[in-house]
Amino acid sequence: MSNRMWGGRFASGPDAIMEEINASIDFDKRLAGQDIRGSLAHVAMLAETGIVATADADAIAKGLAAVRAEIEAGDFTFSRALEDIHMNVESRLKDIVGPAAGRLHTARSRNDQVATDMKLWVRDTIDTLDEQMADLQRALAEKALAFAGAVMPGFTHLQSAQPVTFGHHLLAYVEMLGRDRGRLADARKRLNECPLGAAALAGTSFPIDRFMTARLLGFDRPTANSLDSVSDRDFALETLSAAAICAVHLSRFAEEIVLWTTPQFGFVALSDKFTTGSSIMPQKRNPDAAELTRGKAGRVLGALQALLVVMKGLPLAYSKDMQEDKEGTFDALQSLSLCLAAVTGMVRDMQPDLKRMKRAAGIGYATATDLADWLVRVIGMPFRDAHHVTGRLVALAAERGVDLEKLPLTDMQDVEPRITEDVFGVLGVERSVRSRTSYGGTAPANVRREARRWLKKLEKG
Ligand code: ARG
Repeated sequence: MSNRMWGGRFASGPDAIMEEINASIDFDKRLAGQDIRGSLAHVAMLAETGIVATADADAIAKGLAAVRAEIEAGDFTFSRALEDIHMNVESRLKDIVGPAAGRLHTARSRNDQVATDMKLWVRDTIDTLDEQMADLQRALAEKALAFAGAVMPGFTHLQSAQPVTFGHHLLAYVEMLGRDRGRLADARKRLNECPLGAAALAGTSFPIDRFMTARLLGFDRPTANSLDSVSDRDFALETLSAAAICAVHLSRFAEEIVLWTTPQFGFVALSDKFTTGSSIMPQKRNPDAAELTRGKAGRVLGALQALLVVMKGLPLAYSKDMQEDKEGTFDALQSLSLCLAAVTGMVRDMQPDLKRMKRAAGIGYATATDLADWLVRVIGMPFRDAHHVTGRLVALAAERGVDLEKLPLTDMQDVEPRITEDVFGVLGVERSVRSRTSYGGTAPANVRREARRWLKKLEKG
């Protein structure tokens, strides 16, 4: 049997393989809610403009509500022969309301319909992701406030660099997430134009009111060019780009959690709720949620890459290649959502080991810069000379196998005679972080102020 939606000029139905490669219902059924929302707005507009009689429009709207109820209740039978969500919904609508259902597809095409559905889905998802990101920011800022003065090693090249505070480290991610949210909000703004009514590619001869449909669906305005409306997916690309950057941020944090929870580092402990065990090694506590967050970033980055490649060779307007926008976008944004939830859970429960972090902060001559700064401030040396002198003192300490503050004053004075007892005051890690009061610096007072500023900003209105 030929397809009942478009089979007029076909004598036979499709080959099984044709059906398999063509059908998208297995994944686009997730757009059911958006598809029905779009149809309800479309039919309301068709009635308002007199294109469809009110009685038919009412019947269609009621029928659509019934279809939605069936889908929500899990009573709907999706059919591959009907290809996609659009035709599955419409076919069922016809069963329910009869021939009037055929009027719904006046002045539209699946091309503008699917672009609208996808935009609605991506927009809904952006809103959820934004809330989740704000939640993670809150969890991080709360921890930062609680541990504003906890000293830990700061690294460059993953080598001990200078002591920082745990709170400061966490607030770094709050900043990143703030920019991630900004990027998503920006994508949402550009996305928020309604393609519905662009029809197949050229617009329509019916006197439709695209401003009305746009308004009913919460869009700022209709898209201005019918060809552009049905042939671009830059809104998905832009959202995926923002998602990919956020996934990279989460992945870096996840990597740090993996490191920090090793017995060798031992900086933080995760709760039982966010840890797994080993089936053979009874002592193990594995940070699987962090590892999976790191791993899933690959899927998000991959989806962005895949869609860029799908789009790059397409002539205007619609080509079926664009059906490939869905699985990757769904998977990527859902994966990101799951990772955000997992990282938030880990952060809320995580317990830093203050003693271990502080001890580690002093390893590796991490206060050498403080010593060099002291030579500049107290003795008045140019920084480059102070750097050189400090380097020699570090080499001496390394030779003796002791920390800087264990180097006797007389030995220091052999390298630089003007050094006094006073220098020992700056060699402690607590003093070091307390002195970093420059704007954006790691001093506990700064961290407290910044954490409070964020928490206030993040208060739920
Ligand atoms: N399932 C299709 C998609 O996702 C809907 C649009 C089909 N349009 C067409 N001209 N065959 O892109």
